Amino acid sequence: MSDGGSAVAGGSERRRFVNTAAAITATGGLLFGYDTGVISGALLFIRQDFAPLSPFLEGVIVSFLLVGAVVGALSGGPLSDRVGRRPTTLLAAVIFGVGALAVAFAPGVGFIIFGRFLLGLGVGLASMIVPLYIAEIAPADRRGALVSLNQLMITIGILLSYIVGVIFAPIEGWRYMFGIALVPALILGVGMFMLPESPRWLFEHGQLDKARAVLGRSRSPEEVDLELREMEEIKSLEQEQARVSYKELLAPYVRPALVIGIGLAVFQQITGINTVIYYAPTILQGVGFSEGGAIAATALGVGVVNVGFTILAVRIIDRAGRRPLLIIGLIGMVVSLILLGVVFSLDSTSGAAGLLATVCLGLYIASFAISLGPVFWLMISEIYPLRIRGTAMSVASIANWGSNFLVALTFPVLLAALGGSGSFWLFAALGIVAWFFVYFRVPETKGRSLEEIEASFRGTTVSSSRGR
Ligand code: BGC
Repeated sequence: MSDGGSAVAGGSERRRFVNTAAAITATGGLLFGYDTGVISGALLFIRQDFAPLSPFLEGVIVSFLLVGAVVGALSGGPLSDRVGRRPTTLLAAVIFGVGALAVAFAPGVGFIIFGRFLLGLGVGLASMIVPLYIAEIAPADRRGALVSLNQLMITIGILLSYIVGVIFAPIEGWRYMFGIALVPALILGVGMFMLPESPRWLFEHGQLDKARAVLGRSRSPEEVDLELREMEEIKSLEQEQARVSYKELLAPYVRPALVIGIGLAVFQQITGINTVIYYAPTILQGVGFSEGGAIAATALGVGVVNVGFTILAVRIIDRAGRRPLLIIGLIGMVVSLILLGVVFSLDSTSGAAGLLATVCLGLYIASFAISLGPVFWLMISEIYPLRIRGTAMSVASIANWGSNFLVALTFPVLLAALGGSGSFWLFAALGIVAWFFVYFRVPETKGRSLEEIEASFRGTTVSSSRGR
């Protein structure tokens, strides 16, 4: 790259350190995707083993993960601001491991529900701590790609959960489906054990020498000086303040970012992504697809498109920027949702209707995968002030998990009241609102250091600006 002469080895070593740290941490994303996806393959067999299982208990088994996720997201931020990003990630790894074992060895339904709650706790914690940690160690010009590795791993986790579901279906091995998640939990735990604390958290907690040492593993000496100077400048803007509290989130310099984070969180969910992902087979059945193999193929197809277009997003996000991806992706989502609604309103089971529905589903997933999927989790790791970053991310994450839960809860009712086409059109209408929200509210964060972003929310600048 641009490092010249003898700096080359150091440069590539530094690059390797950041890549490795991001990849290890993103295992948390893999667990997020896997543990949210695995239930669709496992439920059929849990239902058989514990028959008769009431629809209510079935719902609780499915949704308790989301309840746990809300609690995990709620505690993760304040915890990570107080004790550090690293211990919080380690805690998530332990919870993931215990949760996997609890469900895998569950003697009864109660234990499964408890295990699902634990897994949810892990998912909620991971969902905010992984982007947070990666954003704080990543150099500004690669932060988008490195943080979005998290979303890539989420999509890979979902895809793996389908594949594992298919593999263990013949032996009805739902316990294996859950137990296998112990492996990534161990990778996350052991890997994180070997990684250092986030340099920004260290700085914020007065451990300047350690912050400098950690930054030095991934930056040139000049870059280390510049970044620390920026952190100092930001710190000097803060008045003496007591412990971080949720109240501080309402300070005038945080409020706009808070609105952006919560807005993106809610829009990511209420534009229907999880209903489309998990109901895709049902959706296609509605336009004439047969059950069985074709359905499994659809689920895999959705998973593959999701992974493929997230890879594209990772590759371009630091060049294209966050805003253009959101603006273009939301248009794709809205158009495909409107068309899906039209296909459904025709009430046709012809081959042409099936083909159109399949294309629309693909376009919808692809559009989400380059926009709201990665950009939401990335942006909430970028826009909050260091002092309360974890706590503020908790709020956005809770908004996301809460909306996820509400959509899951109300979708069957929505479907009954509005039908397939009405539901898709409602998601499309919400997508249009989301587009305007992004257009008028969401700033570009590409290439700017976290301190530059924080300074701009405080209505000032920091020294770096690096010629920008
Ligand atoms: C969302 C999840 C969703 C996943 C799909 C994530 O960014 O938060 O709710 O299931 O993307 O790829």
